[in-house]
This record gives sequence, C-alpha cells and structure tokens, in this order.
Amino acid sequence: MINTLLGMAVNAETQRPVLSTVTGGLSGACVKPIALRMVWQVYHAVKVPIIGLGGIMNATDAIEFFLAGATAIQVGTANFINPRVTMEIVDGIAAYLERKNIGSVRELVGQLKVG
Ligand SMILES: Cc1cc2nc3c(=O)[nH]c(=O)nc-3n(C[C@H](O)[C@H](O)[C@H](O)COP(=O)(O)O)c2cc1C
Repeated sequence: MINTLLGMAVNAETQRPVLSTVTGGLSGACVKPIALRMVWQVYHAVKVPIIGLGGIMNATDAIEFFLAGATAIQVGTANFINPRVTMEIVDGIAAYLERKNIGSVRELVGQLKVG
C-alpha cells in the first residue's frame, strides 16, 4: 500500500520539477506515520500476515511496526544511507526484546495499547 504514495519536488531556481517524471514514489522517514497507520488499520480489519515498511530507519521504527500489527518488516531507503542498517536493526530488536524480557517478536505483533 505504501509504495503508491506519490510525491513531487520542485527546483525554485530553475522553476522546473526535480524529477523528469514530475511525480515519483515517496519513501523514507517522511512516510512512516502514514505506513504505521495503514498497518494498524489493516491489522484490525482482516486477519492476514502484514509486511510493515515505509520509513523504517532503525530498530525502534521496526518495533513500532510490529506493535501496530506487522508480522515482518522490510527496509528500503535506509539501506542507501547506511548499508549496514539491516544488521543494526536486527541487533537493536534483539536488545529491545532482552531489555523488555520478551521471548519473541511474535509477542509484539499487534500489541499496541490504545486507550
Ligand atoms: C530505489 C527504490 C526502488 C523501488 N522499487 C520498487 C519496486 O520495484 N516495486 C515496488 O513495489 N516498490 C518499490 N519501491 C518502494 C518500496 O518497496 C517501499 O514501498 C518504499 O520505498 C517505502 O519503504 P522505505 O521507506 O523503507 O524505502 C522502491 C523504493 C525505492 C527507494
């Protein structure tokens, strides 16, 4: 769902679009609030496995997606900033589980406390 978000960039000096296609797929940290909301809504609407993605830049972001209802996560844009990011995310998730005394990521899925 998240890869259907279209964005646009404008160069004020040239007064032209930055992208030759004028609009293009929006990704990275700016889409995270929208992606999280989508995962949370789908989790509560249908019982299907959900891959959470969109703006996951670190382990905390990944954990947020598990809490919203994702059963797995995917990392795109962050790899362009830090090629080691996925291993750092794996380590960060493990550290979070240990600190919280939680046995498995499965125990996080959909556990967002609302109200
Ligand atoms: C360079 C690049 C190429 C992408 N190519 C595809 C693609 O071929 N098919 C697709 O469904 N999504 C594609 N996406 C969208 C990603 O799957 C993802 O939905 C989006 O980037 C949000 O996640 P992110 O913030 O972790 O990058 C691409 C994204 C980037 C940055």
